[in-house]
Amino acid sequence: MSLWGGRFRDSINHNFKNFNDSLQFDYRLAEQDIMSSIAWSKALMKANVLNSKEQKQLEDELSVLLNKIRINPEVILSSNAEDIHSWVESKLISKLGELGKKLHTGRSRNDQVTTALKLWCKVNINQLLNNILELKKALILIAECNQDTIMPGYTHLQHAQPITFAYWCLAYVEMFIRDNNRLKDTLKRLDVSPLGCGALAGTTYNIDRHQLANLLGFKSVTNNSLDTVSDRDYVLELISNAAISMIHLSRFAEDLIFFNSNEVGFIELSDEVTSGSSLMPQKKNPDVLELIRGKCGKIQGALTGIMMTLKGLPLSYNKDMQEDKECLFNTVDTWNSCISMSILVLTKLKINKNRCKDALKKSYCNATELADYLVSKGIPFRTAHCIVGKIILEAINQKAALEDLDLKQLKNFCPLITEDVYSILNFQSCLDKRSSQGGVSSSQVRQAIKSAKKNFFS
Ligand code: ARG
Repeated sequence: MSLWGGRFRDSINHNFKNFNDSLQFDYRLAEQDIMSSIAWSKALMKANVLNSKEQKQLEDELSVLLNKIRINPEVILSSNAEDIHSWVESKLISKLGELGKKLHTGRSRNDQVTTALKLWCKVNINQLLNNILELKKALILIAECNQDTIMPGYTHLQHAQPITFAYWCLAYVEMFIRDNNRLKDTLKRLDVSPLGCGALAGTTYNIDRHQLANLLGFKSVTNNSLDTVSDRDYVLELISNAAISMIHLSRFAEDLIFFNSNEVGFIELSDEVTSGSSLMPQKKNPDVLELIRGKCGKIQGALTGIMMTLKGLPLSYNKDMQEDKECLFNTVDTWNSCISMSILVLTKLKINKNRCKDALKKSYCNATELADYLVSKGIPFRTAHCIVGKIILEAINQKAALEDLDLKQLKNFCPLITEDVYSILNFQSCLDKRSSQGGVSSSQVRQAIKSAKKNFFS
């Protein structure tokens, strides 16, 4: 049964119907559409459109439908209804006859669809927030156990300065805290009810929009109906939240792929999240991480896609907007699965503390320390930088670490160098000296772990 037909002489072309219908993907809004229909029936009763018996009959039937689709939402898919809104209405009409036909009084699919979609976003944002929380917890657990796992930090993928594995974990915790906060902001902005806006200009019935919002768990109601039915900012925001977070997940994956490479070997991924080669028996490939990195591209595409769909649309609702759902659903599913896979990787991760430590040998990650040492002896930093550069060249020449050069050799470059230089070249001392706020020293890392844990519950 179609919701409109009166003004048409011919029936719909079969191929156009397939092209136009959205039930195959918007069936995922069934629960939200039914909940808002129940709320709407109450608003209609208050507006004297339905009597209490009629409202109860509608609500009971909608609740039966709700239970049915909660058990198996895919039952919806065998119908040839145009979309989820038509499906719910047609079910009511087939059960309740004329009464079923009353529910759409004063309502349009334009306010209905954005109400259902916002409710769907609210549920899914909460799921994403929980998933991100688990990811942060998994990172913090590894950080706690690896405060002494010293390794090279990189810039330009070249050895730079010593860090710890814990510190690396904490860098990603920061990114995921920002993702978490962005989602919360998005949630705050979308938490306004569109129901009661009608097709584009409001409704003539005496509908209490605040009560409707209250029934559906929205904080407040939207201001302008013309804007409300054409607003998909929350879809853009949620997908851009995903796009940013997927960049984080992709960089996280790339770091781990590098750490897991044969040459680096700081970590070993568990058998559970790796796969072999059909030809080369020795292979154990980090497919899980490569897929996270790869899927990031798709999400950037989804963001550009929906931006372009909405760009230049005249007010208010246009059918182009039906295209918002598939990309939103796919994006949220992909984002959630990438977070879950990252958690799985972390829970089973083996960290080779010795390989991490050994990578620091002859890495010259203590070169900055030597320059700072010369500064402490009164040499201007730029001159100290140049002297240390020359010492490094000599050490490379001798295939030695800085700390392997004896005092006599060091004094050839700068007579101010004395025996105490060796204690500052020690990597632990390099770490501990960086005790500025946010630095890599053990005390700062301990503090960062503590405040990240506090943040979990904020
Ligand atoms: N399936 C449509 C969508 O997702 C519902 C809204 C239809 N509204 C309309 N005026 N044709 O956008």
